[in-house]
Amino acid sequence: MAGFKGKSFLKTSDYTKFELETLIDFSIELKHKKRHQLPHPYLKGKNIALIFEKPSTRTRAAFSVAAKDLGAHVDTYSAGDFHLGVKESIADTAQVLGRMYDGIEFRGFQQAHVETLSLASGVPVWNGLTDEWHPTQMIADFMTLKEHFGTLEGKTLTYVGDARNNVAHDLLVTGAILGVNIHIAAPESAQPDLEVQHLAETFAAKSGAQLHITNNVQEAVYQTDVIYTDVWLSMGRETSEWGSRIELMLPYQVNAELLAQTHQPHTIVMHCLPAFHDLETKTAQTLYQQFGVEAMEITDEVFNGKHSVVFEQAENRLHSIKAILAATLGDVF
Ligand code: CP
Ligand code: NVA
Repeated sequence: MAGFKGKSFLKTSDYTKFELETLIDFSIELKHKKRHQLPHPYLKGKNIALIFEKPSTRTRAAFSVAAKDLGAHVDTYSAGDFHLGVKESIADTAQVLGRMYDGIEFRGFQQAHVETLSLASGVPVWNGLTDEWHPTQMIADFMTLKEHFGTLEGKTLTYVGDARNNVAHDLLVTGAILGVNIHIAAPESAQPDLEVQHLAETFAAKSGAQLHITNNVQEAVYQTDVIYTDVWLSMGRETSEWGSRIELMLPYQVNAELLAQTHQPHTIVMHCLPAFHDLETKTAQTLYQQFGVEAMEITDEVFNGKHSVVFEQAENRLHSIKAILAATLGDVF
């Protein structure tokens, strides 16, 4: 059986294919339990700290509700609430928190910081997103695929847009571990880092996943089962970059024309969210006034269209984070 207890969840490449599949299946089971109001207090009496250096809606809400459903107590902190990294090192903070909390979630900039927290705290640490990876998102995403198609076997996911960010890198590597074919369509300057490509190739050689990275959207989406996109500018990037990003990325916008190029009626559309699909946000308004674009990485028509599973995917953040918490901190496996 998979060895989860006491282990941190920092990046998916720390886990085997079997372990990731176990988490995906357990997520589906916990979703069923929640739907049928079957109690699952695997973390009764545990104390969990949630720390956010960057904003979050889904990850924060999902960790909070998941922990409570499991019977744990939760405290949520913004990084500014702590001395963390300003007056006290991450390692020292980690030692203190590790003596008080049974587990720690951390969303931040550097992967090295979440790794240090894990090493120094001695309790399970869960990566709620860094500049490098977004591993809890991956369990929700591949869970959504499995729920939708009944299997991951033989499926192809095509990521379109900024493919040099945390989510694209993680989809490439996690898909390669799981044996899901990953296609990427992005301009050369926004294709995955070579180091990440090499890591993914190593896993793909074992799992049989086919990886294909190109700047040709038409070729990448042909007969794909999933089209996935994410923002063109991730958290932490300079907003002054928007103009050049829009120009670079517009040919990679997920719109009705691009969706038709799959030549498959069953293709689903995914997005980790938040998404710029309309003008209902301050940022979108500003960018519309500056550059005249009504939508960015995905049009409203596709975002709200019948192929979109984005809100099912968002809900699955709850069930999958719950599975990760219970497996690593509870006595489940
Ligand atoms: N997908 C995701 O991580 O969303 P939040 O930034 O709202 O947590
Ligand atoms: N790539 C995005 C993901 C948000 C969930 C970011 O890092 O901002």
